[in-house]
Amino acid sequence: MKVSFYGHVRQYRNIKAEIDAKIEEVLESGEYVTGPMLKRFEGELAAYSGMKHAIGVNSGTDALWLVFLALGIGAGDECITTTNTFFATAEAIWFTNATAVFVDSDPRPNCIDPSKIEAAITPRTKAIVPVHLYGQCADMKAVRKIADRHNLRVVEDNAQAIGAHGDGFKIGELSDAVCASFIIQKNLGTFGDGGAVITNNDEINRIVRKLRNHGSEKRSCHSMGYNSRLDDLHAGILSAKLKHIDEWNDLRRKRAARYTAGLAGATSITLPYEVPGCRHVYHLYVTETKKAEHRDPLLKLLNDRGIDAKCHYPIAIHQQEGYPWGKQARIAGPIPNSERNAACCISLPMYPELTDEEVDYVVAEVLEWDKEP
Ligand SMILES: Cc1ncc(COP(=O)(O)O)c(C=O)c1O
Repeated sequence: MKVSFYGHVRQYRNIKAEIDAKIEEVLESGEYVTGPMLKRFEGELAAYSGMKHAIGVNSGTDALWLVFLALGIGAGDECITTTNTFFATAEAIWFTNATAVFVDSDPRPNCIDPSKIEAAITPRTKAIVPVHLYGQCADMKAVRKIADRHNLRVVEDNAQAIGAHGDGFKIGELSDAVCASFIIQKNLGTFGDGGAVITNNDEINRIVRKLRNHGSEKRSCHSMGYNSRLDDLHAGILSAKLKHIDEWNDLRRKRAARYTAGLAGATSITLPYEVPGCRHVYHLYVTETKKAEHRDPLLKLLNDRGIDAKCHYPIAIHQQEGYPWGKQARIAGPIPNSERNAACCISLPMYPELTDEEVDYVVAEVLEWDKEP
């Protein structure tokens, strides 16, 4: 059997009529850039998020970068985050010429460990950038308390957890802005690149809107800005998909529960941990081998058996070749959990359209390996 890592085409086929109708609507409208479909999707996304503003931009990376700029973050400033995230979290900090300061992640949900943040704060610290890794919220209540004590900004990297919530908090409720990515592989993904800034802050909304549009709020009037708009075609696709996100996240949770039940007896891997009270939306189902030396052989075995397992992220940011490329970076304290996560992670196929048979096949292969790892 072959089990692919993504189900993009299955998903498209399931809601083809809805997506095709949106594409046609945009094509027939004659307005493709900052047109009515973008406006509509921004309204729908803000409403879905329970927030005042959503601004469509061309990627999750730009969402982070433009928010940092809107907050006035630049050279000499420091932003605290983690190294076991997708590269773009730090890249966006470096785009502003600020310093990326890395603290360790929590050993279980693998998000930023709030107990490590305060020791990393200096007079130059401007922001904390927690990542809701794999589809589960970082401990925003703890992050917020620290930010309040030190008068810091909080920017949520929510490239991976649309529709998740924390234990007693919603994404966006405890931060200055939320940055989403709509690249196809995300749990809300378009057929290409896209992103959004979601915020209750009127000033961030105003500045990001201006920055994404060549520094322009009024036709022919400009200050320095960029071209970072979410195209109306993507907005239309996302508008169709947003209606399904809760149902798709439920299906992801169901697939995850089937993996977890099936793999419960495995002794050589650790299964994803769900923080009590949180809604984990399983953008990824990430296991860890208990021994780092087991990771690559297990990955190869699964790939050889037709299972497209992957790693997120096998090379932590500070382990990348050439790091930090002349940019400003600091690792605050030892980061054994982030390094373990990078060394041991294996993501099993995860998408709403995965069948029970496919999940069971993956489980059977992992259990077979687990007998004699
Ligand atoms: C945690 C995280 N942050 C930022 C990004 C950047 O998003 P994009 O690829 O849309 O620029 C991604 C995904 O690609 C991500 O997973």
